[in-house]
Parts: sequence; structure tokens; C-alpha cells
Amino acid sequence: MDLNLKNKNALICASSKGLGFSVAEALAAEGANIIINSRSDENLDIAKKKLMKITNENKITCLCADLSKLDGVKIVLELINTKFQKLDILVNNSGGPKTGNFDNLDLIDFDEAIENNLKNFIYLTNEIIPMMKKNNWGRIVNICSSSLKQPIDNLMLSNITRAGLAGYVKTISNQYAVNNIMVNNVLPGRIITDRIKEIASKNLKDGESIQDRIDSMGKDIPIKRLGSPSEFGPMVAFLCSDKASYITGNSIQIDGGLIKGLF
Ligand SMILES: NC(=O)c1ccc[n+]([C@@H]2O[C@H](COP(=O)([O-])OP(=O)(O)OC[C@H]3O[C@@H](n4cnc5c(N)ncnc54)[C@H](OP(=O)(O)O)[C@@H]3O)[C@@H](O)[C@H]2O)c1
Repeated sequence: MDLNLKNKNALICASSKGLGFSVAEALAAEGANIIINSRSDENLDIAKKKLMKITNENKITCLCADLSKLDGVKIVLELINTKFQKLDILVNNSGGPKTGNFDNLDLIDFDEAIENNLKNFIYLTNEIIPMMKKNNWGRIVNICSSSLKQPIDNLMLSNITRAGLAGYVKTISNQYAVNNIMVNNVLPGRIITDRIKEIASKNLKDGESIQDRIDSMGKDIPIKRLGSPSEFGPMVAFLCSDKASYITGNSIQIDGGLIKGLF
């Protein structure tokens, strides 16, 4: 299937590693011009070298900016306006929020999670939509979490911010569908990245290794294992394509069956 992504301009936020990087790989393989982002030039350089095995160097732009801050978003917009003039695809993503519950989180943790996992997605989307509207075409995919549909124990900040994002996405997807701007969320369940390893390292029992914990995290997933990033990026690439021209306002699980609900 030709996804017709050649020479589309795509910004993939928080993409030097993990799920964001898997999306960058999938879009690069389809011939898109990709802008990868993280807070570290060093991590971006490593990511760029890996991507150069699948696409030309001149199709990769690295953008070092902390997207949890409005200043970081301004850096992105400046680059897009000066170097690209238009953006076709926006993949919103960020580092995961702090783990914990009501009794071990402070108010400042709530503020930080709202900045990092909700407000920055909204800032950037609000700024990019007028550009997509002018072209009468756009794709926005938000990397979210299975917590959007089924709250996760000990991840209260994820449960709150992802639910807020779902309300925002449904609202704007309704408004801009008529402009051929499709806005969707993808919900990873448990996909092996640094973030999952960090979560797996919390509260290990005596003698339990991180690998033991990762193995046991697979047992309650119907597919009986964690996912790999290579099983994530291609779905996002599809949602970014012309072929996904009638899919908007959805939250699509990529979770090996983890979520137990019907919707
Ligand atoms: N993996 C899963 O199974 C899973 C499940 C549910 C939800 N999620 C969510 O999916 C998102 C991505 O997770 P992941 O597993 O890919 O995490 P990861 O492996 O830790 O990767 C995070 C990426 O984001 C970058 N980053 C972090 N904060 C940033 C910021 N403020 N500005 C710009 N870049 C930033 C990191 O690069 P630098 O450190 O260089 O900045 C890195 O490239 C997270 O929100 C996570 O909670 C993941």
C-alpha cells in the first residue's frame, strides 16, 4: 500500500528514542521529510545516525527544544516558518509523567504533568492548525496512553492528563474535519522503551530483576508479551497518510489486547 507520504513535512515531538523514534522511522521509510525533537543534541545526533540508514540526510532535521515549555514551542514554530513554510503532519508526544498516587504526589507534580502531557500538546496544535487549514490537509496524532480508556494504578497523573487531552481532541477533530484535518490519539499499552524499563524498576521485590518484572508485566496482556516499538510506528504512519482520510476523533489502542473494555 502506498501511503503517499513522500515529501510531506512531519514534526515528531519527543522522538530521539522510544515510541516517538519508532514513528520517525516509519515516516522516514515512507519518504517524508522528518523533524525529530528532544531536549538533548547528543540524543538527537544518535537518532539521526540511525535514521540515515533508511533515508537521506537532507530529509532529516533535528530540533533541540524542551516542548514542555512555551519557549520550546516557539522555537519549533520559528523553524517551521523559516525552513519549511508548511507542516503536513504533527505527532505530539512527550516524556511520561511522574508515577504515583494522591498520597505521594504534590500539587507541583500536578502542574508539571499538565504542562508536559496536556498543555504543550494543546499549544502546538493550536498554532499548527491554521497552517494546515490553509492547505486544506493535515494529520495530527497524539501519543497518549491506555490510561485514556482504563486508568492505571499508581499513574494518577497519566490518568488525569490523558483524559483531558481526549476532550480537547474530540472537540477540535469535530471542528476541523471539514478542512481535511484528521486528529486522533494512539494509546500504547506496554511497549518496551526506556519509560517502561523505568516503571518496571520501581518497587522491585527482593531478588527480582527488571527483566523479571518486564516478563511478569506481559502475563496479564492477552498476547502474553510486551510490544516492540516496531509494532507501534507503522500504525501512526498509516494515520498520518491519505489512506486515513475518514478516521478522526478516535483513540486507537496499540496494546496487545490489554484494555479490557469494549470501547
Ligand atoms: N512505552 C509505553 O508502553 C507507553 C505506555 C503508555 C504511555 N506511554 C507514553 O508515551 C510517551 C512516550 O513514551 P516512551 O516510552 O517512548 O518514552 P521514552 O522511551 O522515555 O522516550 C521519551 C522521548 O521523549 C523525549 N523527551 C522527553 N521529554 C521531552 C521534552 N520535554 N521535550 C522534548 N522531548 C522530550 C526524550 O528525549 P530526551 O530525554 O533527549 O529529551 C525521548 O526521546 C510518554 O508520554 C509515555 O508516558 C508509553
